[in-house]
Amino acid sequence: MAIPGDGWVITLDGPAGSGKSTTARLTAAALGFVYLDTGALYRALTVLALEAGVMPADHEALGSLAISSELNVRAGEDGQRMWAGDRDVTDRLRTPEVDRHVSAVSAVPEVREAMLSVQRGQRRAPGLVAEGRDLGSVVFPDAHLKIYLIADLDVRAERRARERRASGHVTDPATEKQALQTRDETDSTREVAPLRQPDGAVVVDTTSQTIEGPVARVVSLFSELKSR
Ligand code: DC
Repeated sequence: MAIPGDGWVITLDGPAGSGKSTTARLTAAALGFVYLDTGALYRALTVLALEAGVMPADHEALGSLAISSELNVRAGEDGQRMWAGDRDVTDRLRTPEVDRHVSAVSAVPEVREAMLSVQRGQRRAPGLVAEGRDLGSVVFPDAHLKIYLIADLDVRAERRARERRASGHVTDPATEKQALQTRDETDSTREVAPLRQPDGAVVVDTTSQTIEGPVARVVSLFSELKSR
């Protein structure tokens, strides 16, 4: 396949805890591509909405906030950093409070519209690996390779609990399972850009795999596609 002038695009979609972030980050590093975690954009906007006391039901206010927030993704030494104007908000994105509200914020059509240009603006040569919920279906429907990651709910809950405990939070798999179930339900049933398997996506089940498995699979699928 000819090398696209504006860069290759690989998308990874799937539910929370399916291994998207790590797989996407390591795949991007292996290929020398830019990595984009789009959940961080919705999380950053949720941080700003909580600070400003804007409710998810107030679509107009959230839409205005999304436009005025100057959300910006930059590469940092240890992965992607999220900026809102001149403020680095990365360390505030993964709190239980943001977890509880982010699905409602990201379901607002005005918010999704405002995020489209930010996400598409990250595309550059030699390529981009972007992960989220609607990357292959809405943001980059013309992506060269689309992956849909899945894993059993119990396994996802255990992974999430481990990650959270590693960053100092008190939690257990049962609590995380409940939170994941609620978030999956909201993300899959919203009207605009719901979580679903994009047409033409390759399904990768990470339930019983270590992280090397999915990364090797995506890199090999990409090599195959490039050599066609
Ligand atoms: O991937 P994550 O858990 O950081 O995503 C946080 C939330 O953001 C998720 O519950 C749904 C929303 N999201 C979205 O609606 N669309 C995306 N492309 C990425 C995330």
